[in-house]
Amino acid sequence: MRLRWHNYKYYPYEKELASREVTSLICPSGANEVQDGLDLREARPGSGAERLTYFKGYENGSGFTSTVQAELEETARNGKNRQATRYSVHGLHEYKGKFNPQVAKALLNIFKVEPGQTVLDPFCGSGTTLVECCHLGVDAVGTDINPLAVFLSNAKLLGLSVPPCELRKAHKNISAQLRSFDGRKAPQSSAARREYLLKWFDPEIYDEIEGVRAIILDIAGEMSPIFLSVASNLLREYSQQDPRDLRIRRRTSPLPSNSFTSALLDALPQIIDRILSARELIGSRAPLGRAVLCDVSELTADSAMRKFDAAITSPPYAMALPYIDTQRLSLVWLDLLAPNQILELEASLIGSRELRGNSKRELPQLLASNEAELPDQEYELCIKLEDLLGEEDGFRRRAVPSLLYRYFASMKANFSSVNRLMREGAPYALIVGHNHTTIGGVRHDIDTPEHLSRLATAVGWKVEELIPLQTYRRYGYHVSNAVAAETLIILRKE
Ligand SMILES: C[S@@+](CC[C@H](N)C(=O)[O-])C[C@H]1O[C@@H](n2cnc3c(N)ncnc32)[C@H](O)[C@@H]1O
Repeated sequence: MRLRWHNYKYYPYEKELASREVTSLICPSGANEVQDGLDLREARPGSGAERLTYFKGYENGSGFTSTVQAELEETARNGKNRQATRYSVHGLHEYKGKFNPQVAKALLNIFKVEPGQTVLDPFCGSGTTLVECCHLGVDAVGTDINPLAVFLSNAKLLGLSVPPCELRKAHKNISAQLRSFDGRKAPQSSAARREYLLKWFDPEIYDEIEGVRAIILDIAGEMSPIFLSVASNLLREYSQQDPRDLRIRRRTSPLPSNSFTSALLDALPQIIDRILSARELIGSRAPLGRAVLCDVSELTADSAMRKFDAAITSPPYAMALPYIDTQRLSLVWLDLLAPNQILELEASLIGSRELRGNSKRELPQLLASNEAELPDQEYELCIKLEDLLGEEDGFRRRAVPSLLYRYFASMKANFSSVNRLMREGAPYALIVGHNHTTIGGVRHDIDTPEHLSRLATAVGWKVEELIPLQTYRRYGYHVSNAVAAETLIILRKE
């Protein structure tokens, strides 16, 4: 059997994952690289070649057969020789920290996860892992403490389970209503929500977005999360926030010339088409997977029904930029959060730079006593950074050692909770970036993958492998040299 590469340019790690998929799924004895693909010395009969991620298809005695992945990507081409990542429901909404769906799928293949098994994503974000599981007919549970993450994940899973004819009908009816929508006065809303939205939207646009929301809720009923997600994805573009800024700053660029309603009317056909095409390719199936609004430590083996067979995630970074700055408008417009709950959510996210209430006072004490019993290297790093603090370090920098300590402590607790939920021998894959911080005028690199691996080992995981995932801008004329280094950590429950 010969496997043929897709037409896009590969990162080295993608070829590495590709060869692991092949070894794991169909050809334990390995393969020879040939010009346009891999030649397999032997392939298991009835092997799952059609579920491979990094191949366009395969040739055997009876001709060429495409992989499902190639057909899915074909429905969302964004340039002839580019890897498509917004196929199926993946393009419903942007999400900070969203990972590449191909990696999630390749991992499911490498771990040989089969229908009937269940996968966990403890930081599910916008649901990339859950969607890839659903495509393969695998059940999955995601947890996240950001209500927007849970809303988007469940909206995507809904898109993969509602009857296609109902989805088509709702799209048709919503579009008809939107076309005759006269920008009528916004329906009633709580004073706090209205006041918050009017801070960021011009009054006519506020009336329009609220009217659109009412139409969707009215017509789409249970399917409304799908349509509301598409609308939410456009919100920032129509607000007074600079839509390109990861922080919240007032925009200096003009608002788009077309209306919010017409932008939504333009966006919907493509996304609905992609969902319907994906549904045809993956076949109809019972609803699979769900996202739950909680910290994974609140998930018990009971509530998850049975132990998980694998876990795949991309956890939060240590001291990342405020995660939800770009999501505040969506959180309030979708009525997922009251405006006065935003800062609390921000502070409760692992990796947050915000310190609120008691934790400002308590964290330095917890650090001093190593309450979380961090392993030596992680604890010593926090103490070293504290010792290096100088006069020139302002209050943000002064908080770094405590914040890093809190991050390590939370991740250790997370490894421990996930471990309790997994069956013996189950793998846990994490895609993790590297960090740095500047203290006392000196830059310190934080090798997060190494630290996380040690924290995991401390609570019963075996580190199987650390695989570097280097990415750079692979498309475009002005190819930048900047390499973004991430690492895939593979753990195994002993
Ligand atoms: C890097 S993102 C995950 C993105 C996801 N892989 C995707 O494709 O969209 C990390 C997620 O961790 C979530 N998070 C942070 N602290 C959490 C906690 N204590 N419990 C559960 N989720 C948390 C954040 O809300 C965020 O969605």
